Amino acid sequence: MTPSDSSNRRLLVTSALPYANGSIHLGHLVEYIQTDIWVRFHKLMGRECLYVCADDTHGTPIMIRAQREGIPPEELVARMRTEHQRDFAGFNIGFDNYHSTHSPENRALAEEIYLRLRQDGHIRTASVRQAYCEKDGMFLPDRFIRGICPSCGAADQYGDACESCSATYAPTDLKEARCAVCGSSPVARDSDHFFFKLADFETFLKYWIRSGAIQEQMANKLDEWFLAGLKDWDISRDGPYFGFEIPDAPNKFFYVWLDAPIGYMASTRHLCDRTGRDFDEIWRRDDRFEVHHFIGKDIYYFHTLFWPAMLHGAGFRLPTAVHAHGFLTINGQKMSKSRGSFLNARSYLDHLDPEYLRYYYAAKLSSRVEDLDLNLEDFTSRVNSDMVGKVVNIASRTAGFLRNRFGGKLAPVYPEDGGLFDRFVAHGEEIARHYEEREFGKAMGAVMRLAEEANRYVEQQSPWELAKKEGAEAALQASCSVALNLFKVLMTYLKPVLPAMADKVEAFLNVPPLSWENRVAPLADHEIGEFKHLMARVDPKKIEAMLTAARGESPPPPPAPAAAPATQTKGAAKSVEKVKTADSGAAKSAPAAAESHPGGGEIEIPQFSQVDLRVARIVAAESVEGADKLLKLTLDVGALGTRTVFAGIKSAYAPDALAGRLTVVVANLKPRKMKFGLSEGMVLAASGEGVGGLFLLQPDAGAEPGMRIK
Ligand code: MSP
Ligand code: ZN
Repeated sequence: MTPSDSSNRRLLVTSALPYANGSIHLGHLVEYIQTDIWVRFHKLMGRECLYVCADDTHGTPIMIRAQREGIPPEELVARMRTEHQRDFAGFNIGFDNYHSTHSPENRALAEEIYLRLRQDGHIRTASVRQAYCEKDGMFLPDRFIRGICPSCGAADQYGDACESCSATYAPTDLKEARCAVCGSSPVARDSDHFFFKLADFETFLKYWIRSGAIQEQMANKLDEWFLAGLKDWDISRDGPYFGFEIPDAPNKFFYVWLDAPIGYMASTRHLCDRTGRDFDEIWRRDDRFEVHHFIGKDIYYFHTLFWPAMLHGAGFRLPTAVHAHGFLTINGQKMSKSRGSFLNARSYLDHLDPEYLRYYYAAKLSSRVEDLDLNLEDFTSRVNSDMVGKVVNIASRTAGFLRNRFGGKLAPVYPEDGGLFDRFVAHGEEIARHYEEREFGKAMGAVMRLAEEANRYVEQQSPWELAKKEGAEAALQASCSVALNLFKVLMTYLKPVLPAMADKVEAFLNVPPLSWENRVAPLADHEIGEFKHLMARVDPKKIEAMLTAARGESPPPPPAPAAAPATQTKGAAKSVEKVKTADSGAAKSAPAAAESHPGGGEIEIPQFSQVDLRVARIVAAESVEGADKLLKLTLDVGALGTRTVFAGIKSAYAPDALAGRLTVVVANLKPRKMKFGLSEGMVLAASGEGVGGLFLLQPDAGAEPGMRIK
């Protein structure tokens, strides 16, 4: 399928479409940086390479979140798209087109594909019994049902799987199931659904996954699916649902994963309409363009089973390849809000140079489906020693002499260098192969070995010594000219990874854009520009500042909170624990300090000072068996240690949403024995009488656990 004349290759490349539901984080960036490097490499080779992406906008979580914010989903997805595009731009991700799955192009293509599949008999309907919330008037996706795990008894688990014992089950098996939106108990209700008959494509898929289009590791995994037998895929959802209505089926909508991959085509269509290209040449035939999808390992079955089957069934071309990568860990662990290691793209950009991360990821990426660890110490030393110590160093140690002694002029003829330059150029073939095969780590290794060689050359020549010697003018100019020419070749090799630095180098060397092809001719009799600062060392203090800021960031809104009232009357801050434990009838004895003046009489400052209010970090939050309204909070109160507090805030907060968040605790409250255990303090929250809703107090970002509140 690869066009035979490889120099004329034309490619369409995609990254998975990020959910409009959340912010871009450093895990996502493994994928967008990997794809962007690959795309930039092809462009540098002079190939036509189009990089398209879009926001993935449909589904229940977006709909619910928009409801809670009191805005139309269209407004929410527009806002998220702006945020995503800004973050991507910050990391120099160079999309040729960034679109949205909530677009006319996507609707038209989704309908076309669906109708083709239906016409050819690949769609069937069947009645499905599902949990339905009568209060919200909607069917509940698994993730919007919470209850007790039927297998281990853990409280407050999702409708499809238990996070405590990893059991998977049907939502109907969940005990004491509740609607995660409003908390009422769902009922079972039947409804007709549309199914895509995946098994119709079994023979085709078995062949396709072994055709070289996907990594062997992934193909092996898919064999397990084949052994289990391919199941028909439910592609419809009942309204209300934020998505596209299915033709001839009022109030039935395409499931988000049906139109999500079609978003790749929609973005292509939008690009074509904008630039006068021919969409059909890319998606309806396979001899003009290659199509490459980059994805994370978590979504491979959508891309290697459903998607090729849909394309094949609807008469479109197939992807040339699907490239899956592993997941990001930070300092060896999954990104975690409670450990403060959940790093958003924005927190990174607020403190650090994006090219550090691009280089670091490149140095660690391979073509295998392996997880990648961002170890922050390793990150610092690697970027500093490779980028600053090896690469930038070559230019910074030589450019000044040329500027000051020779008016910026390189030697009139490229000097004798013992074959060094030619060797640097020749290594381009190996490096290009590594890029092509997505072995970026190997590519970076090869470039760094060359950089070491260039540094050895500079050491041997010691221009700083030549500069002191009489009659060594020509030798000084020659050695600096060689060094800068080697540097130029290295920067060509690094350009896919470091586009911003390459820009600066082009200006400094006063050359047209570096390209793979024009690396072969050395610069001679050429005047360079001013040496500009290319890259600063990684400052560990900035990493600390980033981590501190990230810890203070409030986590994204819970997937399953109480519906927020549209208008909020500000209520008085009061002890939730007191109110709610009283409600639950667990403890009647009222605590002294905060209780005695509920908004009535005055107190003196010394009286107020008796209350020891502290910043606390919620390390863990869990439901309490037998107590509908309580959450058991584990608090980190800095120097005061760890505290357990039972708080009556379950109606407003899903436990997951609390971990990592800062709040305020009354730290010198006499511990109280409750039915469920010892409560060692209270957390503060606001609630408006008669308005409903609870609002946990939270200090501004930057506050540290243990800080005293005065
Ligand atoms: N919306 C779907 C993709 C639809 S594609 C037709 C989705 N979105 S996502 O925002 O959750 O993820 C976008 C991409 O980022 C996916 O390929 C996913 O695998 C990748 N990653 C998300 N978190 C990641 C890490 N922690 N580490 C590495 N990649 C990660 O899935
Ligand atoms: Zn409900």
